[in-house]
Amino acid sequence: MPKSSGLSKDKNWWRQASVYQIYPRSFADSNGDGIGDLKGITSRIPYLKSLNIDAVWLSPFYPSALVDGGYDVDNYRDVDPKLGTLADFDEMLAGLHKAGIRVYVDIVPNHSSNLHEWFQEAIAAKPGSKARNRYIFRDGRGKKGELPPTDWVSHFAPSAWTHESAMGGKHNQWYMHWFAPEQPDFNWDNPEVQKDFLKTLKFWADRGVDAFRIDVAHALKKDLSEPLRNLDVFEGLEQRGNKGKGILADRDDLFKIYKEWRKLFNTYDPPRVAVAEAFVHPDRIPLYASTKTLGQCFDFRFIETPFEAGAYKVATQEAIELATKNKSTCTWTLSNHDQIRHATKMGLNPGVNRRDWMLSNGTSHPLDMESGTNNGLAATLYILALPGSTYMFQGEELGLHEVTDIPESSIQDPQYLRNHKVDKGRDGCRVPLPWTQSGPSFGFGTGGAHLPQPKWFGKYSVEVEEKDPSSPLAIYRKALELRKELQTKEEIKWHKTSDVSVLHYSRPNGWNCITNFRAQEYTMPKGEILLSSKPIVNGKIPAGTTVWFKKK
Ligand code: BGC
Repeated sequence: MPKSSGLSKDKNWWRQASVYQIYPRSFADSNGDGIGDLKGITSRIPYLKSLNIDAVWLSPFYPSALVDGGYDVDNYRDVDPKLGTLADFDEMLAGLHKAGIRVYVDIVPNHSSNLHEWFQEAIAAKPGSKARNRYIFRDGRGKKGELPPTDWVSHFAPSAWTHESAMGGKHNQWYMHWFAPEQPDFNWDNPEVQKDFLKTLKFWADRGVDAFRIDVAHALKKDLSEPLRNLDVFEGLEQRGNKGKGILADRDDLFKIYKEWRKLFNTYDPPRVAVAEAFVHPDRIPLYASTKTLGQCFDFRFIETPFEAGAYKVATQEAIELATKNKSTCTWTLSNHDQIRHATKMGLNPGVNRRDWMLSNGTSHPLDMESGTNNGLAATLYILALPGSTYMFQGEELGLHEVTDIPESSIQDPQYLRNHKVDKGRDGCRVPLPWTQSGPSFGFGTGGAHLPQPKWFGKYSVEVEEKDPSSPLAIYRKALELRKELQTKEEIKWHKTSDVSVLHYSRPNGWNCITNFRAQEYTMPKGEILLSSKPIVNGKIPAGTTVWFKKK
């Protein structure tokens, strides 16, 4: 089994790491079946190394029927045969470690898939049985139990309850699911469930995995005391603002679980790292990011922050303040596998309703792809110079755009399929990457691609951008290389600018970062230019540009 060889034992490596998210099914396909796989990732290690990243985060690669892109897990301690084997995983991990790249894997603890052996057992078992108690089964309301037990709602379906008959059960009970009916929620009050996840974490940590991304980390514990309470007023599934006493999410009793996980993580050298995906009120983020629990928590505020100086400054200050509170660091993120690609958001008029625009297949309003890519790059350089870690999504280094016109027959995402088709879903950012300008699936593999790639993909391919020193790829590589020199003291200092559309900050090593968001042009301060997202013309920084420079 591979060990974490070649990597430092620094226990703080994660604090200012640049982490690149790989969505395995859409990264690189080694066997031409149209689905990306682990051998595909291994074959692209030289590329990953050339990006100068510190770590990769792998979205789920476990056995799955792919009802929710792999977030419906059949077996937590194996690899989906469509993606490879455990031996392929070990080979990939060893190769990444050798290249100096650490590995995060995604842990999905709130729910399994309906094909998980425990759920199969539960469906076949009787009410009140040990097997059913690993999930949340209840009798229905109404004379014949024909109504769901409560009014709880799900992300992907109207009700968070499905009658067991839909899964072949014969006992007239209902089971609970936050997401699709094929993603039944575990009963985290059950010690057997708690123990089994410790086993899973240990399984991957022993294999040499460095870190974990915890899926919907705020959702595990529910108030399951009888009688179950209704939500009554629709407060949103996340129940923000309930101060740890909500019914379905972000409950105080959750942290006992994460304290146990922390104990396990700390038995490794260096300790294993975790980052929580938790959609909670900002005041609650430190509970997940505490050194006694998971250590870091995603703060997604930049995903929705408009590309404007004032909004960026406030978001930056608030995020730093919050992370500092709990001795954690910021998690700067512009895109991930659940979001419209940020280059696209930044190329749309800010007033456009993006959901409607996506439903119109991107036809209801014009998209300025070039300025979106440029603004996206400026935003990236802005966040990459900040203290804290950065999480990037595959393809953003190419300035890649969302695919908006996936035909209905090809859509895979339950967010669209189950949500009354009022939300186009997340497939548009998950389209397999373009590696070459042309050819079958633009070099993704020798066969096709599991989601259709548009004609314009070739222009954003690695092959094209590698030939152009001013491409997004070239700028990302340089920025991520230079950034290593910024991984020092976690401080920034703001500097005054003569235009409200321009932000300027510096780091303790003497580096400065200046972003011109919207000013026509801005005079470049004196200094040695290290990197610029767009060329500086006659000493002026154009709009939509970030420059890194050293003061003389
Ligand atoms: C993941 C999604 C997934 C959901 C259910 C998340 O927040 O990022 O992609 O659909 O959890 O597992």
